[in-house]
Amino acid sequence: MAREIAKYAIKYLIKTPKAGSIPETFSEDLSKKVLHFHRRLPGYQPTHLIRLRNLAQSWGVAEILIKDESTRFGLGAFKVLGGSYAVARLLCQKLGIDIQTIDFDYLTSDAVRKRVGHITLATATDGNHGRGVAWAAEQLGLQAMIYMPKGTARSRVENIRCHGGTVEVTALNYDDTVRLCSRRARENGWHVIQDTAWEGYEDIPRWIMQGYMTICVEAVSQMREQGVNRPTHVFIQAGVGAFAGAMVGYLARLFQDDTPCFIIMEPNNAACLFSSAIAGDGLPRNVTGDLSTIMAGLACGEPNPFAWNILWDFVRCFICCDDFVSANGIRILANPLKGDESVEAGESGSVGVGLLDLLANNADFGVLKQALKIGPGANVLFFNTEGATDPENYREILWHGKYPSMTYK
Ligand SMILES: Cc1ncc(COP(=O)(O)O)c(C=O)c1O
Repeated sequence: MAREIAKYAIKYLIKTPKAGSIPETFSEDLSKKVLHFHRRLPGYQPTHLIRLRNLAQSWGVAEILIKDESTRFGLGAFKVLGGSYAVARLLCQKLGIDIQTIDFDYLTSDAVRKRVGHITLATATDGNHGRGVAWAAEQLGLQAMIYMPKGTARSRVENIRCHGGTVEVTALNYDDTVRLCSRRARENGWHVIQDTAWEGYEDIPRWIMQGYMTICVEAVSQMREQGVNRPTHVFIQAGVGAFAGAMVGYLARLFQDDTPCFIIMEPNNAACLFSSAIAGDGLPRNVTGDLSTIMAGLACGEPNPFAWNILWDFVRCFICCDDFVSANGIRILANPLKGDESVEAGESGSVGVGLLDLLANNADFGVLKQALKIGPGANVLFFNTEGATDPENYREILWHGKYPSMTYK
């Protein structure tokens, strides 16, 4: 049954994970191959796993670990890992070759260009995914046609145009923009590189999710290097749920004897996974409307059905919240305790830390905290999935306290 902490506009559902069988899609073996592919991309560097020891002590948990994707390939977000892998798989499929057998340079060669001909990639995006696809197209000498929902921040449009992508900002919400993009691609013979799936369109979204595994492979190895065996709690923010599905799929498989507690977070106005969870029958549900939230990357109303199946099986808690939680996360990460590192987190990257602040420090969240067993034994893993991709809003949040905390006393 869903519960509400009405004073703070937070709803959550705790469920007992079913621990069903874990799809092969996220095997350790494949994750190594994906990492091998990313390592050959120009500019590859593993992103940092930031350990906030003083914050962990202050909030009464063993570890707070933040996998900081804000620096991934200099593109401000993790998304390029999925887009680049999917585009490369698509090219390899056209060429009839195995991705393991080629160098990235080969894919950019004239020989390949001659064999595959002129290719245009098309996608709908709230910013980060389109930036990753435009970057991959630029690297490979392909065209990119990018559709964005209404209200998209100018900086996010510019971040795509500067990689040569053609951008159209629509008058539609995210999900209708996905449909528009798919229609235009059909009419024009473009290749859709979308991170959500529908009937008959499953390979590319699956490749995108597999591309995200590099984050987990790096994070687990960095954790072990720092003497932390495993995460006990993993907070994951979700839009269509592809990112969360990949993280849960990989980690549940890797730690199958002692599965971490997975917590999925969404904005109140775009909580399609939460709505699916409360329906209780294991089927995905859509939400509609303009999906308005500062967490632009999470403003999606229709779950990725493949990701949803994984989340339904393995997630312990679905939770949705208002924008102030994300804004608090931004402020906390940018202003660390003495001795901790500061982290630039964008609106979709910071929500987990904003939420842990409430759980750790606010008696109204005591029941939830206890149900999730958040305490001195908890190794908590977060993903800062983006940096300040809307710098104006980021500054307003930090400098002028936009979206003020509802817990300010
Ligand atoms: C920064 C950021 N975080 C998280 C997500 C959520 O990913 P997904 O839509 O796969 O759930 C997105 C999606 O665009 C994003 O841009």
